[in-house]
Amino acid sequence: MTRPPGSSANDLWSAPIPVGQLTAGDLARPGVVFEHGGYLYRTTGSTAGQGGMGNTYLVAFRPVEGGAPLARDQAAVAKVFHGDYLRGMKSDPVVQRDAECAMRSLVAIAALQHPNILPLFISEPIVDNHLTVTPLQAGTLRQVVRPGCLSQRRRVELLASALRGLHAIHEAGFIHRDFTVHNVLVDAVMDSSYVFDFDLALGEADYRGKSYRELYQGRLIGSPGYSVAPETLESSLMDAEVTPLIDVFAVGGALFALFTDELPYGRTDDMWSLLLRVTEGAVLDGASRVVYPDSVPRVLRPIIERCLERNPDRRYAGVDRVIGELEAVMPELAREDLDDAPAVFKTMRFGDPDARVNAVFEARADASVTRELVGDVNAALDRVGYELRRAMGRVKEQAIFMAAPRPDLVARGDFPDTNTYPKLVTAIPMRNDPDPERTLDLWVGGYLPILRQARQGMLTPLYRVVHDEPCALLLLFSEYVDDVRFGPELDHLDLSLEEVFGLGYVVARQVRRLHARGMAHNNVCADSLLLKALRQARRVHPAMVGIVAPSFSAADMAEDVRRLALLVLSWLRPDRIQTSEAIHRARMADVRQRLESAADSADVRAIEEFIAVVADGLSVIDYNFGVLRETDGDLDAYALLLFSPTLYGRLWGLDR
Ligand SMILES: Nc1ncnc2c1ncn2[C@@H]1O[C@H](COP(=O)(O)OP(=O)(O)O)[C@@H](O)[C@H]1O
Ligand SMILES: [Mg+2]
Repeated sequence: MTRPPGSSANDLWSAPIPVGQLTAGDLARPGVVFEHGGYLYRTTGSTAGQGGMGNTYLVAFRPVEGGAPLARDQAAVAKVFHGDYLRGMKSDPVVQRDAECAMRSLVAIAALQHPNILPLFISEPIVDNHLTVTPLQAGTLRQVVRPGCLSQRRRVELLASALRGLHAIHEAGFIHRDFTVHNVLVDAVMDSSYVFDFDLALGEADYRGKSYRELYQGRLIGSPGYSVAPETLESSLMDAEVTPLIDVFAVGGALFALFTDELPYGRTDDMWSLLLRVTEGAVLDGASRVVYPDSVPRVLRPIIERCLERNPDRRYAGVDRVIGELEAVMPELAREDLDDAPAVFKTMRFGDPDARVNAVFEARADASVTRELVGDVNAALDRVGYELRRAMGRVKEQAIFMAAPRPDLVARGDFPDTNTYPKLVTAIPMRNDPDPERTLDLWVGGYLPILRQARQGMLTPLYRVVHDEPCALLLLFSEYVDDVRFGPELDHLDLSLEEVFGLGYVVARQVRRLHARGMAHNNVCADSLLLKALRQARRVHPAMVGIVAPSFSAADMAEDVRRLALLVLSWLRPDRIQTSEAIHRARMADVRQRLESAADSADVRAIEEFIAVVADGLSVIDYNFGVLRETDGDLDAYALLLFSPTLYGRLWGLDR
């Protein structure tokens, strides 16, 4: 390092600012000095790792003058939240509430001073964010359990050590809610580990006596496949009281993840399928459906299964019980380092950097997608850890791509998210946007929180919004869904009345979830109707996707209803009504008439009315639906039942 003549190393530490005057940007620059609690901290500008919610940076620290001199400066990690996360937080009351609880919990948990809970040096608001600083460790447990690295026994010992921290947290009345191998840090000598990342942690006062339904309000919170427990997803389990048993569930996932990148649920090609498997349960009263790769030691399997029980009451009653069981089987675990190197990922990224862009460009589904756009999207995706796979075409002018997490990052444990499913990415150019800040606010602060709540089937229509400044692109990430058909396929089918009205009902109710929050889908059409096959259950689930240009306009909401009516009418064959039972014919004709006037209607016709018409249709053809309607039953589930198995048969089954 070159220094001006006459200066000393101490000058590097001069002119500290109070921590409250820092900005998130300061942490990304080297040489900014700040002071807190008797210590000086100096930024290095280097990043320490990526998380789903925050950016982390390396900082050096030492006592202020007068403090005990240290042999050398020590290193710590400073974390601030992603700008996108902060924007989203402001507009989602549940996320905001949880973030405030978590902030309080963080400080209280650190005060426990447990040897397996990561110490906290700073937790303070700064100018535009919130800063936490923790001592630097070797890496996350996920990062250190690399192929050929640690023995079975060492892996389990390191996890068990973090479990002691987790148990202490429970004893003190907190729940973690995202206990995974990504949220355990291993110390420099690989001797001990710490539980950390309390971004979702709640204290007793925040959750005791509440049900999952009340607390989560439909949000998907945690890491699906690992820390997302069935009781947070499945309607029939949601009324249970919130308890630390959700963390016991997550311990099962973490144990599994010590030995494989695969999930306990077997191969699932998309997030939707995974969430369904989670709600169905991997283990039901001792009967296990867990799919194990050979690398998962047999003696651990019963322990994993007891954690993963669908019914919380069947799980270990506490983390201390799991620790006890792990200690008991420890002697049976191998002490030799594991050589479980995964197959080398051969992808285009290791070859010519332009090869990927060229290949995707050549194979694009829509000729109007330019090479420049493909190149920009490739670069922007790379910056957030994804690689471009395909250019899929356009929806409402906007180009859609398919992307997947970079395999090299996933293999190293460096991919920032446990959700590693492929994504569909809509790329919206912002270069000509007169007010990009406003557009970004609208997406991140307006649409994203609504779409997160308005789950369709198991699918959240929008997963993440990223603003890539270098390429001036807005990237909308949604879950890629495998094994699907789209609405136009229905044109060739002679749908039964149950199918027409059942499907219409469920889809209209999905759109209603947006309307109820003031938002128009604004692209209701056959092409937007996705039909997902659930092969094991022999069912089909619909979702109205294609949300690339939503709005808060009343006219667009009216248009949604008009288009829903047209869609249902397009499925309705007159001869189906003719051949229906004579006593129903007149009422059916009336329903049809009302649908037609909904489709013609220019005035703002509320979706409630439309849903009532469709429900009338269902009540005519299915007596039980009518009864259920009067008794406030679960109409969505019942309507699904009316069409899902037969429509599956038509679209995927033998009778096709
Ligand atoms: N004290 C630390 N020592 C080493 N790495 C850290 C430390 N704190 C955070 N990291 C790295 O930063 C990443 C993100 O931190 P985390 O607190 O988990 O944020 P997020 O809530 O975004 O997941 C971690 O996965 C890890 O790689
Ligand atoms: Mg984390």
